[in-house]
Amino acid sequence: MSHIRGRFKKAADKLVTEYTASIPFDWRLYPYDIVGSIAHARMLAKQGIISQKEAETIIKGLKSIQREIEKGEFQFKPELEDIHMNIEARLIEKVGEVGGKLHTARSRNDQVALDMRLFTKQAISDTLLSLRKFQRALISLAEANKDVIIPGYTHLQPAQPVLLAHHLLAYFEMLQRDVDRFSDCLRRTDVMPLGSGALAGVAYNIDREFLATELGFNRISQNSMDAVSDRDFVLEYEAAASICMMHLSRLAEEIILWSSAEFNFIELDEAYATGSSIMPQKKNPDVAELARGKTGRVYGKLMALLTTMKGLPLSYNKDMQEDKEGFFDTVDTILSTLEVFTGMIKSLRIKTENTKRAVERGYILATDLADYLVKKGEAFRTAHALVARLVSYAMEKGKSFSELSLAEYKKFSPRFERDVYSITIESSIAARDVVGGTAPKQVEWALARAKKIIGARGGK
Ligand code: ARG
Repeated sequence: MSHIRGRFKKAADKLVTEYTASIPFDWRLYPYDIVGSIAHARMLAKQGIISQKEAETIIKGLKSIQREIEKGEFQFKPELEDIHMNIEARLIEKVGEVGGKLHTARSRNDQVALDMRLFTKQAISDTLLSLRKFQRALISLAEANKDVIIPGYTHLQPAQPVLLAHHLLAYFEMLQRDVDRFSDCLRRTDVMPLGSGALAGVAYNIDREFLATELGFNRISQNSMDAVSDRDFVLEYEAAASICMMHLSRLAEEIILWSSAEFNFIELDEAYATGSSIMPQKKNPDVAELARGKTGRVYGKLMALLTTMKGLPLSYNKDMQEDKEGFFDTVDTILSTLEVFTGMIKSLRIKTENTKRAVERGYILATDLADYLVKKGEAFRTAHALVARLVSYAMEKGKSFSELSLAEYKKFSPRFERDVYSITIESSIAARDVVGGTAPKQVEWALARAKKIIGARGGK
């Protein structure tokens, strides 16, 4: 304990020790702390700052500490504040005074920045892999239901028919932007901060490029004060995670709607639904609801850290220890949400009998009727008004478009001919044959493109 109590004669108040300790949560950084320390020891020896033999002793000690932690035999002590001091104290206990040479040319400030960057790099790579798996599940569901047509909605009102695959591929696009955002965040995370020391750099002849290579970083930081006080990479991950959760939450909302008795478009697999403790008939979409709910918590962590950082003078401040719990929670939340969503999407069944009925209900082909008149020479605005009147007439009579006689059609426009009856749900879809449209040909092409994107960038 003496090494952090410094010039003090008194031990810290017990409450203060508990209040300031980060070990209850930052113990998770141990694998990164240990690889960082191993690389640092190697560099110190290479530069002649410590001897080769001393480095070997230190590295051996660090590796055995890693094993102790993995086996659950390591005793984490709150009075040692954080993961860095816990490991260092144990090292000295195991290898003696030479263990105290490890912290030469280093501070906990650049050390924690390193650990957090290594942790974030791993989190990004895990997130990208999970995003890929989820995108793959969406593609499979789209492919397995290629011919299914559903009502497309605006304002949650049936608007125009679309292929279910087209609807699902919209989420593929959103997730692809998430992939881009996380990948972009990686570029700024991939910067090695060691050598910044407490804030001003270190007074030893160290080799920062060697450290970067050893630890798999692309670049080294260029300003020591910035390097120890920068948490932009955490914020960027949290921002990307917030947007991604917003996408998942929108899909969750659709799954909740679609599995309601009112829509009844899908059947969730029983493994992905829950029952009610009082109403035996219920099958609740809890997974989707929770994902929608957890989105709020991910946004919250982003706002919390932005707020924590906003008033901080350079350089390191203890406030920054508050970055961890929220960040870890965000990483855990997005990874588990993606994983459970992947399983839910893979196992859900589309109730095609009901989607078919839903598309046939109402006047979903009204736009197509207007387009029909336009093709016969009517101005679109006039055609729109004519069909609007036709719809209200049909509603009054309680008839669908196909139940109206040609004479009835002709009351609204002489341009209507017998071929008006060839306007169908299928013809409506096929007509939207533009890039990005719902025509089967276009959707086929979009599916192929999506599969290529997934294939090209790898991931399981
Ligand atoms: N536990 C600290 C944190 O998470 C590590 C850095 C502490 N540095 C210091 N000078 N107290 O930020």
